[in-house]
Amino acid sequence: MSRQISWLGTFGVLLIVTGFGLAMLREPSRQIEAAEDIRSAAIAEGTDLYVKNCITCHGANGEGVAAYPVLNSEGVRSMDADMLYHTIERGRYNTAMTAYSVNEGGILTQAQVSSLVTLIQSGTWANVSARAAELNLMPPQMVSIEIPPETLAVVQSLPSGDRLANGLTVYAENCTSCHGANGEGTSIAPALNSAELRSRLTDNDVARIIQQGVPATVMSSWERALTTEQITDVVILIRCWDDLAANGIQLPQLQPQAIDRSPETIAAGHQMFNLVCSQCHGTDGYGTKLAPALNNKTFLTQKSDEVIANIISLGVTGTSMPAWSGYLRDADIYAIVAYLRSLEPTAPAVANMTVGKP
Ligand code: HEC
Ligand code: HEC
Ligand code: HEC
Repeated sequence: MSRQISWLGTFGVLLIVTGFGLAMLREPSRQIEAAEDIRSAAIAEGTDLYVKNCITCHGANGEGVAAYPVLNSEGVRSMDADMLYHTIERGRYNTAMTAYSVNEGGILTQAQVSSLVTLIQSGTWANVSARAAELNLMPPQMVSIEIPPETLAVVQSLPSGDRLANGLTVYAENCTSCHGANGEGTSIAPALNSAELRSRLTDNDVARIIQQGVPATVMSSWERALTTEQITDVVILIRCWDDLAANGIQLPQLQPQAIDRSPETIAAGHQMFNLVCSQCHGTDGYGTKLAPALNNKTFLTQKSDEVIANIISLGVTGTSMPAWSGYLRDADIYAIVAYLRSLEPTAPAVANMTVGKP
């Protein structure tokens, strides 16, 4: 009897050991699978977070919009994970890169910041831009002007024509939305074609302003977006603008948009607002501690549609309010304006004052 038990016991132990052994043999591949599942879940979460929070500045392919840095480079991808984590968690002091972690007054949990790091290191940018397109958040181009080829040919025939043509191209692509099609200035930014500017600023001054930007204004630093040669050529353009005018060279004006206020547009604007603005401005625009209420009468009566559209497309430099022109289409921005305007009749009279700048 005792023998039988011991035999059974030994057999049992053997069974268990064999079973375990097999399980252990299978374990590494199961662990790898589990780790891969966790990684893809993190990348999927990171993709959504990135599309909603980061593409305005860093682009739908991590390519960097305007003067903002690229994230899809080998350099960033191979950066230490801790370093990436800290950059997103704490932001970079005194830049538009604000702190995103809730610990630092931002909106993302530690797990969400980690997912963003996993995404950046995975380099799966094609999925990011596909997701952005799916959510209709694909950046078109920055507002820019096409130079007609015959105009460019006339410019090229002038003294230092190639450099002027290059300067004009850079200008048409990057500067017209604020400084006007022909450097005449707009309500947002001063003229660059005036004799006053040419006598007040040397070429070096102008180059320095373009390189460094003007702090606390929407004039951002172009150092990362443009090469030294491109900046020099824009400076030549600013110096020679009168010669262009004298040769009849004019770029076409940007057309202001008429705002469609149909219920469908307002509904689309509302949906867009809740998708990309409400995380800071609150559901239906009542404000959060991250950003002021927009659903308030004081703000809405004081600001024209054009001004609101400009704030949305240009952002507020030095705060976490992004410039949306990089990736919302003008039509989307105007739909949001139509939505905000539709709140005016019922908006609370006084702004919610709970907001601090980040
Ligand atoms: C309003 C614009 C803006 C937004 C939105 C933004 N960033 Fe940035 N980001 C910047 C700027 C500007 C820098 C460069 C800061 C500096 O000069 O060091 C930067 C730098 C970075 C860097 C470091 C790149 C390097 O080469 O060192 C990472 C990583 C980064 N951002 C990730 C993110 C992520 C992830 C998000 C979204 C959660 C995000 N950023 C949202 C403006 C922005
Ligand atoms: C988002 C809007 C915006 C864009 C885009 C922009 N600027 Fe500006 N720029 C401004 C504003 C606003 C100022 C005035 C800043 C201030 O208050 O001093 C300014 C100032 C300047 C000045 C100094 C003017 C003066 O009278 O002191 C120069 C030069 C300049 N910008 C060149 C450029 C060039 C070149 C580009 C394109 C590469 C460009 N800007 C793109 C908004 C913009
Ligand atoms: C990451 C947070 C964030 C997001 C997302 C965001 N904003 Fe803002 N927004 C701000 C902050 C912060 C301010 C206040 C800036 C300041 O101090 O002047 C602001 C200011 C504004 C203002 C000017 C308010 C005023 O009283 O002058 C408008 C209009 C605005 N945002 C619209 C939008 C719209 C529309 C969206 C979505 C397309 C959006 N914002 C998304 C943070 C955000």
